[in-house]
Amino acid sequence: MSNYERLLGVNIDHIATVRQARGTRYPEPVQAALVAEQAGADSITLHLREDRRHIQDRDVEKLAGMLQTHMNLEMAATREMLAIATRIGPTDCCLVPEKREELTTEGGLDAAGNIAMLKDYCAALREAGVRASLFIDAEPRQLEAAAEIGAPVIEIHTGHYADATTPRAARDALSRIAEGVRLGRQLELQVNAGHGLDYHNVKAVAAIDGIIEFNIGHAIVSRALFSGLHDAVADMKRLLQGPRAA
Ligand code: PXP
Repeated sequence: MSNYERLLGVNIDHIATVRQARGTRYPEPVQAALVAEQAGADSITLHLREDRRHIQDRDVEKLAGMLQTHMNLEMAATREMLAIATRIGPTDCCLVPEKREELTTEGGLDAAGNIAMLKDYCAALREAGVRASLFIDAEPRQLEAAAEIGAPVIEIHTGHYADATTPRAARDALSRIAEGVRLGRQLELQVNAGHGLDYHNVKAVAAIDGIIEFNIGHAIVSRALFSGLHDAVADMKRLLQGPRAA
């Protein structure tokens, strides 16, 4: 399996965060998705949160008809979100836990504690032709529950590794991820990974054999600010030198 191509899913939520901060019409998440695809993204991820803090319903609708790759729609397991996902029909739908007060998704889904409910959601998605994925911590009981639920894909939550404050804690979290990947493959699940991955910590996770897709957002959008900031300032400065009214 070692020579397979690792796929990159680009999460565009924080393009929408910047737009929502001012209630403007820009920056446009659809434009970001198309640029990401041109640059090699294998899929586009967006999280329609219950509080609509960044991605809006219209973003999901617009993107659905424009992507050349495919959409991975992240959402909480609620009736409202299920209705949206089955109507729009993204290729993938990743079920995540959601708390209103959190800054970002804090932990994995408790698949083991919600087997019956998640079985229903995954079955409804399957019937609508949407591949369900469960965002879970790399814990054996959660992986086993995902297999029992019948989710074809899991996304292992890498946030505990990314947030580790000592090298030892990072090493331990990384070994748990590697163990999780091994078990996921034994259970015949497609194993993806994401959350908190950046330009420093991603290499060790990418070196784990068996992870198919990496979903990364905040670090990419943050870096884009600096790869573009020089030109953005120069463009504005140039505009200011335009002709003056007499
Ligand atoms: N995967 C899941 C399930 C997520 O909820 C998020 C954040 O929305 C990501 C990946 C991307 O995380 P980050 O923005 O930290 O790269």
